[in-house]
Amino acid sequence: MSQVPFADLHAQYQSIKPEIDTAIESVIKASAFIRGPFVEKFETEFAETLGVKHCVSCANGTDAIYIAMHALGVKPGDEVITTAHSWIATSETISQAGANVVFCDTEKDNFNIDASQIEAKITARTVGIIPVHLYGQPADMDAIMAIAKKHGLWVIEDCAQAHLARYKGHYVGTFGDAATFSFYPGKNLGAMGDAGAVVSNDGALADRMAMFARHGGLTKGDHQIEGINSRLDGLQAAILSVKLRRLPEWTESRRQKAARYDELLRGVAAVETPVTTDDREHVYHLYVIRNERRDELARALARSGIQTVINYPVALPFLPAYSRLQHKPEDFPHSWSNQSRILSLPIYPEMSDTNQERVVEAIVDFCSQFG
Ligand SMILES: Cc1ncc(COP(=O)(O)O)c(C=O)c1O
Repeated sequence: MSQVPFADLHAQYQSIKPEIDTAIESVIKASAFIRGPFVEKFETEFAETLGVKHCVSCANGTDAIYIAMHALGVKPGDEVITTAHSWIATSETISQAGANVVFCDTEKDNFNIDASQIEAKITARTVGIIPVHLYGQPADMDAIMAIAKKHGLWVIEDCAQAHLARYKGHYVGTFGDAATFSFYPGKNLGAMGDAGAVVSNDGALADRMAMFARHGGLTKGDHQIEGINSRLDGLQAAILSVKLRRLPEWTESRRQKAARYDELLRGVAAVETPVTTDDREHVYHLYVIRNERRDELARALARSGIQTVINYPVALPFLPAYSRLQHKPEDFPHSWSNQSRILSLPIYPEMSDTNQERVVEAIVDFCSQFG
């Protein structure tokens, strides 16, 4: 039985092999391994693509959040509000920066932070909000920015899963004080190793972020502060420049495949497909369905050779890492109920129609037996 992989990075490489190979060769020829022209070129291109003034590249999307928070002056005792359902990078960096994590429940159907619950979480110690555009669907940025403005808080958008997603016509990453991106290989824009970036329209903030990421100095030997070492390397930058050119077409392909899943799964009552609204352009880093018998469904799909993933099986407040906060299911009812129902189906730009049909047939088969 042939397998339906969750993603296929080799197929992506094959589709752009000559350009990638040439890019890698150029970096090796120039020995431009750390920073240098390829990194600067990618930073400029990525900022231009989003229409922001500054891009500070770094080692990964986790560092990006930490760097942004450090540059915004987060200090011990501060509180930062973030979503209850995300990858742990979003919340662990709050603790790394010395602040206290304050979780906010998600909207039941779009999985993003529920903006209507944020104000109730604000105290005299709150300094900022980190919304995540989870799975590639924008969070409610108008509501979040209005709350931030009213209370004098900063906003860092975690765009790790949402390259080129749009909220009311504008790219995510252009709303907050800063926005962070991951270029982990499986992301919509992925390197061939770890890579990340922070973008901002605030020049002074961008300088502080770059300084902190580069041992506290913008020029070699001039250490204004103690920093960290978080660098994008030349090979990854050159690879990302090649892939950035394809990103619009890959994004469109993901959106078409998502629309096809929506269509094919429409009549399957036991499956809830992703809920989107007209004001948001979801880029489907993940296509997440919900089903009451999720674990059995995942096992049935695995038996049919179909790979699925759960993103994420335990919402952040319920992880052992946060047992100190002693949260209960009723504190975050939507995240609690979604964590046992969500299932991410294979989706990637090169996925064949046949493989998509196989996924749907296996789901239909399971549902016709078990409902
Ligand atoms: C929502 C979210 N935030 C942050 C990160 C961290 O990115 P990285 O793996 O590049 O450190 C990820 C990556 O998985 C993510 O999905």
